[in-house]
Amino acid sequence: MRTQVAIVGAGPAGLLLSHLLHRQGIDSVVVERRSREYVEQRVRAGVLEQSTVDLLREIGLADRLDREGLPHHGIALLFDGVAHRIPMSDLTGGRAITVYGQQHVVRDLTEARLATGGQVYFEADDVTVLDVTSSTPRVRFTVEGRSTELECDIVAGCDGFHGVTRGLLPASARFLEREYPFGWLGILAAAPPVDDELIYAYHERGFALASLRSPTISRLYLQVDPTEDLAEWPDQRIWDELGTRIGHDGRSVNEGPILEKSIVPMRSFVCEPMRHGRLFLAGDAAHIVPPTGAKGLNLAVHDVHVLAAALSHWYATGSETGLDEYSTTCLNRVWRVQHFSWWMTSMLHRFPQHDAFQQQLQRAQLEYVVSSPAAATSLAENYVGLPWS
Ligand code: APR
Ligand code: PHB
Repeated sequence: MRTQVAIVGAGPAGLLLSHLLHRQGIDSVVVERRSREYVEQRVRAGVLEQSTVDLLREIGLADRLDREGLPHHGIALLFDGVAHRIPMSDLTGGRAITVYGQQHVVRDLTEARLATGGQVYFEADDVTVLDVTSSTPRVRFTVEGRSTELECDIVAGCDGFHGVTRGLLPASARFLEREYPFGWLGILAAAPPVDDELIYAYHERGFALASLRSPTISRLYLQVDPTEDLAEWPDQRIWDELGTRIGHDGRSVNEGPILEKSIVPMRSFVCEPMRHGRLFLAGDAAHIVPPTGAKGLNLAVHDVHVLAAALSHWYATGSETGLDEYSTTCLNRVWRVQHFSWWMTSMLHRFPQHDAFQQQLQRAQLEYVVSSPAAATSLAENYVGLPWS
């Protein structure tokens, strides 16, 4: 089998890249370890930056997003029992975020890719990438017991943080990482959201976040110890804790059946460079941000937008300039977003090692952000996403 671009991983990065290439007349094959059902049902984050929404519209993939996505023009920072609204759109010339579950993005992308004749192999075992420093790399995999070898010009490593492609980088590559001393326990619940805008809460018992997926579905998070066992968190304990951290001004957290529950660790991670020979990493395969800035999916979208443009230029002209600049262009945005995500995380969480002095610094920072238009604008600009250069 032969294709121009072999894409490992059918998450948002891999599927969107395949689409963008298709629009430029470039052939690709996507190879995914999991089943289609698994990938489409995996509950993840759900905040799309303005540029992400603009791109999906431009390529005709936003019908459902425009119908079901919820545009948000502000968020609240809640501390010491008072919620302070940051009017994001007013501060950013009308830019906004859209709340739309990542699994819906994946479902829309998969449907559209298959409808346009895209080749996506789900449940591929033993995915192995070979010869990325030659001009004819190969991807080997097994589907339904049949072993296949895919010859290509380029391999896109879109296989997430636990994928295999990052392992092909040479020893000279750098992996920069921060682990945080906490995780997030997240739930999806059939209960009306606390508010129609997101609430980020700084509380002495730890951070909490009230988000939503629709007027009847809440998405809620609690800062917990990263080694915490989910079994220690029966539903009522979760609701009580959410009520304590997020309830304010007579506003309570609405309870309802919990549809999904999980604990995720929090880390920042960057791999430099994002390229080795004919292998290009994109999305979570190359970088992880803590979810407090709501940026993971958006960074993945930016990477593949840059990669698709570079590949299209290369196929059209033979010039490698775009490919050579890929890693630097992406890493510039990755580090801006890493800083924002680290800053939001540091401002809003309780750190076990912090003393009263450091907690007062956090409060001072929060007070500044909600009282200074310049500081609020900086948060808003980063949160809705700086325009793509
Ligand atoms: N072979 C084939 N596929 C693989 C392999 C492998 N060895 N390892 C992992 N995969 C698949 C995973 O099953 C997953 O479907 O690669 C896909 C990677 O998708 P994501 O983890 O969603 O990563 P990405 O597409 O970069 O999207 C980034 O995902 O983690 C979230 O919040 C993050 O929103 C961000 C987004
Ligand atoms: C979500 O809705 O899942 C969500 C929202 C904001 C975040 C993280 C996750 O910062």
